Amino acid sequence: MKLLIDSADIKSIKHLIEYYQIEGVTTNPTILTMETANYWEQLRQIRSIIGQDKMFFVQTLAVNSTEIIEEALKIISELDENVHIKVPVIDEGYKALKELNRLGIKTLATAIFTAQQALMAAKCGANFVAPYVNRIDNVSGDGINVVSEIVKLSEMHQLSTEVLAASFKNVNQVHQCSLVGAHSITASPDIIEQLHSHPSSAISVKQFSKDWEARFGSVRI
Ligand code: E4P
Repeated sequence: MKLLIDSADIKSIKHLIEYYQIEGVTTNPTILTMETANYWEQLRQIRSIIGQDKMFFVQTLAVNSTEIIEEALKIISELDENVHIKVPVIDEGYKALKELNRLGIKTLATAIFTAQQALMAAKCGANFVAPYVNRIDNVSGDGINVVSEIVKLSEMHQLSTEVLAASFKNVNQVHQCSLVGAHSITASPDIIEQLHSHPSSAISVKQFSKDWEARFGSVRI
C-alpha cells in the first residue's frame, strides 16, 4: 500500500520523507490556502524536496472542462509532466478526465462519495480515484464500505485505476482502508506520525536502556 502526505507544509513533508517510506504528496486548493500566498513557489519547493521519483498530485480549481484542461496544462508547464492532475467528479470533471486521458496526462478523480462515481471516473480514464472517507462518514455514509466496494469493482472489472483513499480524521479509518485493500492512502502529517507510533513502543525502549545500564553501565553494543 502506498502512503502519501496530504499537505503542503514544507517542514512536515521534509520530516516525514526523511523518516518514513512515503510515496508522494497530495494537495488541494484548501491545503494551499493554509501555506504561503505564492502557491507556485510552494508547489515547486515540494517537488524539489520529494524529487521526481515520488508522486505529486495537484488539483484544478475550474468548474468547466475547457478551463480544467487549461489549468491542467498550466500545472504541468509550471511544474513537470509527471505531476498527477486532480479533477473533481462534477460533470465537467468527467468530460475533462476523458480529454486529459486522450492527451496522455496522468489524473486522479477526486471528491468521490460513491463507488459508482469511482467506476464512472475509471471509465473516463482516471489513473487514480480518491474516495473521501471521513467526509462520507460525515454525511451519514460509510466511507470504509465505499472504499471496499471500489476495490472490489476494480478487481471485478480488472481496472487499471488505483484507489487512493483520502480524507481521514483518525488512524482507525486508515487501518480499515488498508484492511479492505485500498491501493494507496493519503493522510495529514499528524495521522502519518500516529500510524508509525505507539506510546508502549517508546516505554519498551526506555526499559531496554534502563535494564542495560543497570547491568553494563555506559558500555555500548
Ligand atoms: C485528498 O485528495 C483530499 O483533497 C483530502 O484528503 C480531503 O481531506 P479532508 O476531508 O480532510 O479535507
